[in-house]
Amino acid sequence: MTVDPRILRNTLSLFVTGVTIITTESQNGERVGITANSFNSVSLDPPLILWSIASASLSLSIFEAASDFAVHILRDDQSDLSQRFAQSGADKFTALNTKSGLGGVPLLPDCAARLECSLYGRHPAGDHIIYVAKVERLQSDPSARPLVYHGGRYATLADQPG
Ligand SMILES: Cc1cc2nc3c(=O)[nH]c(=O)nc-3n(C[C@H](O)[C@H](O)[C@H](O)COP(=O)(O)O)c2cc1C
Repeated sequence: MTVDPRILRNTLSLFVTGVTIITTESQNGERVGITANSFNSVSLDPPLILWSIASASLSLSIFEAASDFAVHILRDDQSDLSQRFAQSGADKFTALNTKSGLGGVPLLPDCAARLECSLYGRHPAGDHIIYVAKVERLQSDPSARPLVYHGGRYATLADQPG
C-alpha cells in the first residue's frame, strides 16, 4: 500500500506545532536559516532537541558542515519573520539586528525563546535529515505568546476557560 503524499501532508498538518527559525553560519561567514516546525524536545539529561531539514534545502551544505546552531521559538507576532525564513534561497538576514552566538551563529532578537546548541547527531531519514543537538545555552521570555502552526496556517493560542 502506498500513502498519497498530499493526503499524508494534510493529515500531518492537523498536528499542532509551534514555529522555530534555525540558524547557523558557514566557515566563511555565510549566514543561513530556515523556518522549521519539525522541532521537538528529546532528552532532559543530556539536554537534547531535534529538528529535520529537507535534503532539497539550499542551506543544507552549510548545515552539514556546521557544529553549532541557534533555535528561535517564535512569538505570535512573528509570522512575517517565519515567512521570510521559509523562502528558499532568499537573503533572509537583510536589516535584521542579529548578534553572534556560540560558534558565531546568528542570533535573532525578540523571540519567545532561543536555544544555542551544538551538534549531537545527524540521521538521514527519507527526504529529510534529522538533526539532534545539545542545548548549551538558553534564554526565554515567559510572558511571550507562541506562534502556532496548524493545517498549513498560522494561528495563536486560545486558553480554555476555567
Ligand atoms: C511553518 C513552516 C514550517 C516549516 N518546517 C520545515 C522543517 O521543519 N524542515 C524543513 O526542511 N523545512 C521546513 N519548512 C520549509 C523551509 O522553511 C523552507 O523550505 C526554507 O526556507 C528552505 O530554505 P533554503 O532552501 O534557503 O535552505 C517550513 C516552512 C514553514 C512555513
